[in-house]
Amino acid sequence: MTMKYKEKHRPQFHFSPEEKWMNDPNGMVFFNDEYHLFYQYHPHGTTWGPMHWGHAVSRDLICWEQLPIALYPDEHGAIFSGSAVVDWDNTSGFFEEGPGLVAIYTSADHYPESDRPLQRQSLAFSKDNGRTWVTYEGNPVLSDENIPDYRDPKVFWHHETKKWVMILATGQTVMIYTSLNLKNWEFASEFGHNAGSHDGVWECPDLFKLPIDGDENNQKWAMLVSIGDNGKSKEGSRTQYFIGDFDGTTFVNENPDETILWLDYGRDNYAGVSWSDIPKEDGRRIYIGWMSNWRYANLVPTEVWRSAMTLPRELSLTSGEEGVRLVQNPVAEIEGIRKETKVHEDLVIRDTGTSYPISELTEVNLKFKKENGTSFGLVIQSSQEGKTIIHFDVAKEMLFVDRTNSGDNSFSDSFPTVQEAPLKLKDGILKLQVFIDTSSIEIFANDGEVAITSLIFPNEAVNQLQFFSNEGITNVPILKVTELNSIWSK
Ligand code: FRU
Repeated sequence: MTMKYKEKHRPQFHFSPEEKWMNDPNGMVFFNDEYHLFYQYHPHGTTWGPMHWGHAVSRDLICWEQLPIALYPDEHGAIFSGSAVVDWDNTSGFFEEGPGLVAIYTSADHYPESDRPLQRQSLAFSKDNGRTWVTYEGNPVLSDENIPDYRDPKVFWHHETKKWVMILATGQTVMIYTSLNLKNWEFASEFGHNAGSHDGVWECPDLFKLPIDGDENNQKWAMLVSIGDNGKSKEGSRTQYFIGDFDGTTFVNENPDETILWLDYGRDNYAGVSWSDIPKEDGRRIYIGWMSNWRYANLVPTEVWRSAMTLPRELSLTSGEEGVRLVQNPVAEIEGIRKETKVHEDLVIRDTGTSYPISELTEVNLKFKKENGTSFGLVIQSSQEGKTIIHFDVAKEMLFVDRTNSGDNSFSDSFPTVQEAPLKLKDGILKLQVFIDTSSIEIFANDGEVAITSLIFPNEAVNQLQFFSNEGITNVPILKVTELNSIWSK
């Protein structure tokens, strides 16, 4: 029997590389019925090292096929993060016979004889559905030697101005460039000097338009910006976003500079960006993140491989009292791995009353209805008393995920933490969707208004849910427990 994908802590319905180190998702693009996922990859070790682009494809965003490494370090340096697009009209001149894929990534080098980084943007193209790649002879195509952090290009076609747009992370800002052919880039604008969080270096930006509350006539732009670990904050690396308008050259933030919007309140969702070229008929904006944190990514207790991606998520915009906000929900394709669902209705939770056996791979959907309990929640428990506690505090209006006793915490002092998100009940109801894999928990609260993505390393398999309500009762009008299939068992 092969041990592949059966190792301790191996994610069973999240993408992880067969072996070795992985970080950011890169170059996600949909082309000829395949979702491509490239990723920062170090094939010679289980810690970060000279970066390559690993590669996997999927037809449903859930089951992945591993493919050979797509891009190797070359004379311009290692292959850092970036994006990929379909060049439908051969604007680049790379494709005489029908459209192909162009990857736009950072060539990461150093100045000779010094440690000073030299980060420049390069191109590679593929005429065979991403199976093989040719690096462009004119690389690098964009450089600015005055800016040491100058990386992670995300490129998209801007229909209104009929230009390619690149958003690039440039230290404590992003810069926007435009191009007609992907080869020559013109500076358009810079954003972010005073806006949002500057806790760490800005990385892996993305920029896209979405309808508000599903209304195609009322759209806004969302900008994602990941912020590196500054070594000081308790959160480590994380991702913020901005909402505003974009005219093809300039992004205008509609919130005050000091407003900080977090994409995910868990510790383990970083460097995520969205898929390019999802067909119009589909219309979704699909996102995936790296399910780790620079604070301890190199230390997590897995041996053969390191790191997994989050579940792919559909992003949308909703308008509320505080303004327009991003919400995220797991893609509908998750249906493909659902097994049987057990439904329980009208539960009344007192103290630490009720518990349910669950399988190691489980999705839980439930509603808590506030009664007189002051706080309530559920404990995800493994056979060895390992506990991850999801806990809502009524007075504080905060949702907490406590992983201080979730299992193996020994590898980093920063790992055993309580994660917290501000959240308001809706008509007294808290709705939760929770995905439990072997080494992660993803929580989508109130239809994806709040996401909390958290790694856990239980010493033994999770096997029970336990509900609690403090200082009074809490109702659970509906609880659905669904067993999930492993994507590697097929
Ligand atoms: C984000 C990041 C990117 C960079 C890559 C290097 O996690 O630091 O800015 O391109 O990882 O692997």
